[in-house]
Amino acid sequence: MIIRTEKSGDEATIRCVVEAAFGQSAEADLVDALRTAGNSTISLIAEEDGEIVGHILFSPMRLDPEDEALRLLGLAPLAVSPSRQRSGIGSALIRKGLELSGQSGYDAVFVLGHPEYYPSFGFRPASHFGIRSVYDVRDEAFMALELKPGSLSGHPGTVHYTEEFSRDF
Ligand SMILES: CC(C)(COP(=O)(O)OP(=O)(O)OC[C@H]1O[C@@H](n2cnc3c(N)ncnc32)[C@H](O)[C@@H]1OP(=O)(O)O)[C@@H](O)C(=O)NCCC(=O)NCCS
Repeated sequence: MIIRTEKSGDEATIRCVVEAAFGQSAEADLVDALRTAGNSTISLIAEEDGEIVGHILFSPMRLDPEDEALRLLGLAPLAVSPSRQRSGIGSALIRKGLELSGQSGYDAVFVLGHPEYYPSFGFRPASHFGIRSVYDVRDEAFMALELKPGSLSGHPGTVHYTEEFSRDF
């Protein structure tokens, strides 16, 4: 398996993988909308024998009250082809995405997802940092990971996804 950045021509296959993973089109529509808006900051695919079997996307997030010094990303969505799930592809995509996020100078990454899955990558409830999501979600489902230790200290507030996340797909 290789993990690489999305390139031109991958769009339709990524759409198929995301739709199949979620069993609906909303998340695939979101991926397309983020790309069109230029908010697909980091988009990686997992490829096996030339076939795309997984995809992960990171988009910019904004803290309210604003702090221009903080560079934040949101991890969403993450999708692995149903027949290839539970074989480490999702984990490999997360690890590579976090590595690239750190190398690109981002301070922290947020994720709304399975509270059993993400802590093994270092995520912990965002509430630990005094940060909450705009969405009304279970405390442990909205998680944060500091790429630079201490970067979220002293920045209580609410983090917002880009406008594409509030669209009705
Ligand atoms: C969630 C998802 C991305 C995980 O990808 P994956 O390649 O299957 O995950 P991995 O093989 O790397 O998982 C490793 C471990 O994570 C845990 N895990 C995986 N999926 C999980 C889930 N849905 N809930 C809880 N734990 C999960 C398991 O402990 C797994 O280990 P195990 O196989 O020994 O039980 C994939 O199942 C998927 O595409 N699901 C549908 C879409 C989705 O829910 N996306 C995530 C939104 S937050």
